[in-house]
Amino acid sequence: MFSLLILPGDGIGPEVMTEVRRVISWFQDKRNLKIDIEEGLVGGASYDKHGVPLTEEILNKALGVDAVLLGAVGGPNYDNLSFDLKPERALLRLRKELDLFANIRPAQCFDALASFSSLKREIVSGLDIVIVRELTSGIYFGEPRGIHTDGSNERVGVNTQRYTESEIRRVAISAFELALKRNKKLCSMEKANVMESGVLWRDVVNEVHVDYQDVELSHMYADNGAMQLVRDPKQFDVIVTDNLFGDILSDCAAMLTGSLGMLPSASLGNKKNNGLPRAMYEPVHGSAPDISGQEKANPIACILSFSMALRYSFSDAQNANLLEKSIEKVLAKGYRTPDLMMGDQGHLCSTSEMTDKILEELDAG
Ligand code: IPM
Ligand code: MG
Repeated sequence: MFSLLILPGDGIGPEVMTEVRRVISWFQDKRNLKIDIEEGLVGGASYDKHGVPLTEEILNKALGVDAVLLGAVGGPNYDNLSFDLKPERALLRLRKELDLFANIRPAQCFDALASFSSLKREIVSGLDIVIVRELTSGIYFGEPRGIHTDGSNERVGVNTQRYTESEIRRVAISAFELALKRNKKLCSMEKANVMESGVLWRDVVNEVHVDYQDVELSHMYADNGAMQLVRDPKQFDVIVTDNLFGDILSDCAAMLTGSLGMLPSASLGNKKNNGLPRAMYEPVHGSAPDISGQEKANPIACILSFSMALRYSFSDAQNANLLEKSIEKVLAKGYRTPDLMMGDQGHLCSTSEMTDKILEELDAG
């Protein structure tokens, strides 16, 4: 029996999570999947009830379970809160406390959706790349940080990019391991031309490469990487990069595929005593307060996040493949949530109707 903690969060988070629960129930009923599910509050929803975006109780539960599935956090109601009370803080704290250092963000272009990309069809069709983003260090967490007043009474904002060798090494290992299971190509991105942390990054990635000679390694400055991602994204297989560059490059990669509503992610840490990695799965999209409560949200990114949980936490590639294939078929038949509609092509679906179609495809086997 696996244990899963579901944290729907804010905005469209709870809506898409309701759909994921229907999918999970299908696997429990029809495929005998053994998962024990608990649910809790996170982000703004937790702040509203408890005055903090993440309670110790939920944090402890997250530390205890096999995997966490999170919807989305944030919303306009919370914009004026102090930094440590903002919904996003819950995400950052979960990442840090669970030590989820490797954030895996696939950008895969479903054939049926290739014309949605802002890039030409031939540049993105068949695209299948993965960004491995370092998630627990770098400028997001480096000290010193803050806003202070200097000698001449001017305010100064400070953040620090800081990486230790071991932090770089472990995420590099994750990226090489992933590349081995794919097309054996890894591109590491930093700014070694201007940043010492980038020089060290490149150095350590080269050291790790010694143990992964089957993987073809290249290095790119992150700005060039951004350019190459929109010029010719299919040149990449796996990309490894730091926390901030990874944040930016993964949004860019996401848009190549046409819709943010399609992309899942996994954040993985070290293996626990039972051999399973610490893990949190979440859609790449945010809480989308502008469409929440209107049955417009696309549940696919969150459903695919569950599929990643099947694959990476529960070693259940068979059910993960089944789920992914079913989604592909539904898209190929033209079913579309509003974010995927182009003119009047396709059959418009609400959030729950999209899940209905996926369940029908699962039933059909
Ligand atoms: C992401 C998001 C987060 C980040 C925010 C919400 C804190 O943009 O997961 O990419 O910057 O890491
Ligand atoms: Mg981001």
